[in-house]
Amino acid sequence: MSSNILRNSSVTFDLCVGTLKHLDPRLPYSEQAACCRKNKNLDSVCDKGVDRVEADFSFLSPVRCAVGPVHHDLSSLCPPAATIMSSVLQKLISPLASSPAEPPRNKVTVVGVGQVGMACAISILLRDLCDELALVDVMEDRLKGEMMDLQHGSLFLKTSKIVADKGRDLLFTQSCTQFSSFPEASHQIQFHSLLSLPDYAVTANSRLVVVTAGVRQQEGESRLNLVQRNVNVFKSIIPQIIKYSPNCTLIVVSNPVDVLTYVTWKLSGLPKHRVIGSGTNLDSARFRYLMAERLGIHASSFNGWVLGEHGDTSVPVWSGANVAGVNLQKLNPEIGTDADKEQWKGTHKAVVDSAYEVIKLKGYTNWAIGLSVADLTESIVKNMSRVHPVSTMVKDMYGIGEEVFLSLLPAC
Ligand SMILES: NC(=O)c1ccc[n+]([C@@H]2O[C@H](COP(=O)([O-])OP(=O)(O)OC[C@H]3O[C@@H](n4cnc5c(N)ncnc54)[C@H](O)[C@@H]3O)[C@@H](O)[C@H]2O)c1
Repeated sequence: MSSNILRNSSVTFDLCVGTLKHLDPRLPYSEQAACCRKNKNLDSVCDKGVDRVEADFSFLSPVRCAVGPVHHDLSSLCPPAATIMSSVLQKLISPLASSPAEPPRNKVTVVGVGQVGMACAISILLRDLCDELALVDVMEDRLKGEMMDLQHGSLFLKTSKIVADKGRDLLFTQSCTQFSSFPEASHQIQFHSLLSLPDYAVTANSRLVVVTAGVRQQEGESRLNLVQRNVNVFKSIIPQIIKYSPNCTLIVVSNPVDVLTYVTWKLSGLPKHRVIGSGTNLDSARFRYLMAERLGIHASSFNGWVLGEHGDTSVPVWSGANVAGVNLQKLNPEIGTDADKEQWKGTHKAVVDSAYEVIKLKGYTNWAIGLSVADLTESIVKNMSRVHPVSTMVKDMYGIGEEVFLSLLPAC
């Protein structure tokens, strides 16, 4: 039994634990399990040479246990138990295929497990949109905690595989010369810094990658103010994503979203139809909710679009606002203008102000953007041909000569 087998065979490991607890293999399986649960202490295993056991695995469950890197050969510890336990597995499950499992078909990766990333993740999971979910972040503990917390909800989800990987530690060495007024006294100093980078291998074969990593607005701060910091973050993320999932589609969520979608397109080298930004999808959702509230109807029954750039400079399309095809501009030709006595224009102002207001109240926005990203995810993974206001490359539309990403409709 090699350490490799141990790494990949949780069942073997379970059986080792059983043996170390001096279980009588002649006891019925249920009694062994009960005994193990009672003595759920792995210290004795660690004492005998297992360096680390990752994840909270259910004892004696032959199906779903995760055991981390094990560096020692345990064959000397428990050969008889290994034989007994593997026979339980053999009795329970007979593999029909000898080839490795097929890669996932609808794998979704969420980069950044902050407030927005986790809202996207849970919304995607609750709508059963992926067969595997991968999470990536630079904050190792938070990443592992979020992964485990979601995994513990597996019973209530239909995504059987939720994965994340901790960072790789890279030693960076920087040199610089310290100058003195005496040239012979000038000398080179080397700085060593340990940088932990996420391991993107865990994202391999993603069909869709949602990027939410980076800094967010502080109270009163504009989205555009984040640009330089988040461009730097994206330079470390996008090439890694493409390396492991060259055929993926990218949804950019981090702000300023339209600028970062352009940056992502450039960094990725992907064709323009495979890089989109969440754009004014959220602005439109907020607009539909606020207009519908004023009309006393459900948000889905008010049809209206907010287009252009996400946020402060977004544009409401009053000419298209309608309920069941009844155009509001026909009912009130001044709707959306300053001359409008009913001041419907205030609804769009509330859309623009809403992020600032929510950030002031709770520090960040996350639920609405998470739900809206799950909606986009559904359209993509199910190839639904739905129309959304999302940020795409609009060069040559409406005479735009530059490579710019905005949310526009072909004929508005
Ligand atoms: N497009 C929209 O409609 C919309 C709406 C809300 C928020 N946002 C934006 O989403 C972004 C995330 O917001 P949040 O509230 O989740 O922020 P957050 O601070 O809670 O989370 C950001 C996460 O990114 C991670 N991160 C930073 N650098 C990274 C890197 N190089 N690789 C991997 N992960 C990295 C951080 O560790 C953190 O966990 C912000 O830019 C925010 O402005 C966009």
